[in-house]
Amino acid sequence: MSKLLIKGGSSLRGEYRVKAAKNAVLPIIAASLLTNEKCEIENVPNITDINNMLKIMRSLGANVSFEESVIEIESKEPLRFSVPTELAKELRSSVFLLGPVLARIGKAAVAYPGGCDIGVRPLDIHIKGLQEMGIAVEESHGVIYCDATRLKGADIMLDFPSVGATENLMMVASLAKGRTRIRNAAKEPEITDLQNFINAMGGKVSGAGGSTIVIDGVKELHGCHYRPIPDRIVAGTLLIAAATCGGKISLFDSQPEHIEPLLFKLSKSSCVLDVRSDKITLIAERRGRNFDKLETQPYPGFPTDLQSPMMTLMAVSEGTGVIVENIFETRFRIVRELIKMGARITVKDRTAIVRGVKDLEGAAVSAGDLRGGAALVIAGMKAEGYTTIENARHIDRGYERIEDIMNDFGADIKRLQ
Ligand code: UD1
Repeated sequence: MSKLLIKGGSSLRGEYRVKAAKNAVLPIIAASLLTNEKCEIENVPNITDINNMLKIMRSLGANVSFEESVIEIESKEPLRFSVPTELAKELRSSVFLLGPVLARIGKAAVAYPGGCDIGVRPLDIHIKGLQEMGIAVEESHGVIYCDATRLKGADIMLDFPSVGATENLMMVASLAKGRTRIRNAAKEPEITDLQNFINAMGGKVSGAGGSTIVIDGVKELHGCHYRPIPDRIVAGTLLIAAATCGGKISLFDSQPEHIEPLLFKLSKSSCVLDVRSDKITLIAERRGRNFDKLETQPYPGFPTDLQSPMMTLMAVSEGTGVIVENIFETRFRIVRELIKMGARITVKDRTAIVRGVKDLEGAAVSAGDLRGGAALVIAGMKAEGYTTIENARHIDRGYERIEDIMNDFGADIKRLQ
């Protein structure tokens, strides 16, 4: 069911234990293909992106179960090398499968992947890196075909620290002959988590979290049991929701060091934060001041995935703030929807100017992408009256029944249809 009805006006109170990060679990599921032994991944949220990834794993021939937050994957031969187009179109992360399928089977075919509709998401950095490792890449009718007969370690310099390309190359390199260096690598915590997972399988990866990652290829990897890092974007979304609606919430299992830029911003608003290693508490008692400037950057800068929720907070803060989106050019699509709710936002190219209003009004809006959808939920909870959000299925890709999470905090959200 894909439509939410929100009655606005509640402040948020309560506690939440954050589950594993979607963006860590997806590449980890892909990396489990690097061994024919069983891998267990725990504390996993039941969200559409992960279920779609598991469908792809099954279509490749892996044995998969997902029960009580634990995924078990065993991918014994024979495995298929081709990802079905209709599944790949559902999920951009299907591109991660290129690396492990190539390392394991020697060839791979993946349709140009889908996922959130947030602008052009090219694959040139992935493809260039694979080619530097000796992999032949061809594209025909929207499908990428790769042959890894000449796979070997290589010295690679990424043109931009792409998260997905860094992960893809780490996976293929972990079974390639020789040493691979990925320079200008992405530094996101999910990259370090993938390194730790590959090493738990017996791999030799070091340097993640810094700008150069070194991978010494090994002959084979083995199964393992793994608990991925908590979802910093879910944690951030909930903190922003409480900052917007007011109230007091605590998050457990939320590694605050992964969301430092957000905590810093929120502490400059009117929020009171108590940050401990295992618990973050946020108290918001009055309307906050707007941020002069919020600019998205690769990690450790402010994450693009939290930019849309922050836009909702800024839309109701005091004074005017500016947002600069440097990663995905079309992440401003929710502006049109927020304006329907009474927000005062203007956009030029990658910059949005947000003039804070005192109140939003409930309206009929539509989610165009995952994080924009979450931002609309926050707007609906803050607004006066009722808001409906069409296409809530986008939100389900990354949040485990967002209405249950928010209702436990005291919100009033119903799922219709
Ligand atoms: C990952 C996250 C996503 C997050 C993004 C940036 C997952 C599953 N998704 O996406 O939630 O918003 O990081 O933190 O982990 N680019 C190219 N060529 C390429 C690859 C990327 O030009 O070959 C561009 C993209 O269009 C985008 C920028 O680089 O403008 C960042 O993309 P990337 O870091 O690759 O993000 P994803 O891995 O797709």
